[in-house]
Amino acid sequence: MLDSLGQHERALSGPIPEYGTEALRELAHSFIVQCYQELEREWVIDSRLADIDREISQTGTYTHTEEELTHGARIAWRNSNRCIGRLFWQSLDVLDERSLDTPEEIHQACCRHIEYARNGGDIRPTITVFQPETPHTERIRIWNYQLLRYAGYETEDGIAGDPAECEFTRYCQSHGWDGDGGPFDPLPHVIQIGDDEPELFDVPAELFEEVEITHPQYDWFGELGLRWYDVPIVSSMRLEIGGISYTAAPFNGWYLSTEIGARNFADEDRYDMLAEIGTRLGYDTSEDRSLWKDEALVELNRAVVHSFDEAGVTLVDHHTATEQFAQFERNEERAGREVTGDRSWLLPPMSSATTHVFDQTYDTTVKTPNFFYMSE
Ligand code: ARG
Repeated sequence: MLDSLGQHERALSGPIPEYGTEALRELAHSFIVQCYQELEREWVIDSRLADIDREISQTGTYTHTEEELTHGARIAWRNSNRCIGRLFWQSLDVLDERSLDTPEEIHQACCRHIEYARNGGDIRPTITVFQPETPHTERIRIWNYQLLRYAGYETEDGIAGDPAECEFTRYCQSHGWDGDGGPFDPLPHVIQIGDDEPELFDVPAELFEEVEITHPQYDWFGELGLRWYDVPIVSSMRLEIGGISYTAAPFNGWYLSTEIGARNFADEDRYDMLAEIGTRLGYDTSEDRSLWKDEALVELNRAVVHSFDEAGVTLVDHHTATEQFAQFERNEERAGREVTGDRSWLLPPMSSATTHVFDQTYDTTVKTPNFFYMSE
């Protein structure tokens, strides 16, 4: 099935599509057929399609059953070209919160998501789905990138906190939120319905769980004062299933060690810790040829893995994650589906040539259901 852009041209970002009833009907049909074929319940397809056609004629939209929502969200994960963790797509837990319609209730549901997904450290891949945007329901937006995240402050002597969050932090400050100006201050949830003014909600401190970063051998590592939150819950993407746009659908897996150790703490435009670690390791950091950056990266990543293990919080290292992805590729082949992927994202940011993904090419087609970035 080709959508207006042509399935093969689907971009990961762009405006939120507004399908006419004909296009919506087509997208609904192709999803419903796929859904019940995969669930091996083909016999419900015809009557379900008739119901959906009727609903679209009468209301301009249609409503997924809980089963369709669950399987649709799982397919969206399976289709996420940039995700190395897709082996576990079938285990995604779907929390159906479509009945909520106030920012306060939505924030509360986000808090429930955090606790459910955390599960005491044994992290559960989870998505909470709020009401979709339809001709008769307003757009819900969670403006946070993730439900747990640190503020970033531009100060006279440089940036404090996470530089990636400076713009969002400034927005929060301009709307009455006041952070401590520290390196690891939790950001509030910012939730908007339709054209109403967005509302801000602090995340209760007891919900903001973090792992303190220590090293299995170097005692000084703890003195760096590094910490990171336990669950990455992406809240800024639109889930599209069968032509329906769920503009608020926060989802999480667990962390891949390199996301924290080779990017969040290492990137020069993030916490930029490599030089300090290199110096502590005894290197002259003005000299690239010693490969001090590489050594600092390895020790930082060992610290991240060690600390999450000590804290009893699920986290996967990049070698294991890539092995699991190879299993996903074999599973998909057996199921007769082609794996699509974005190699530049699937490759770990360190030791990439040690993984099978390095020698592999992937079809970059963006299939739906999927998760999309929102520009507006
Ligand atoms: N890279 C992002 C971060 O470091 C998280 C993106 C989602 N990651 C995941 N493992 N599901 O916070």
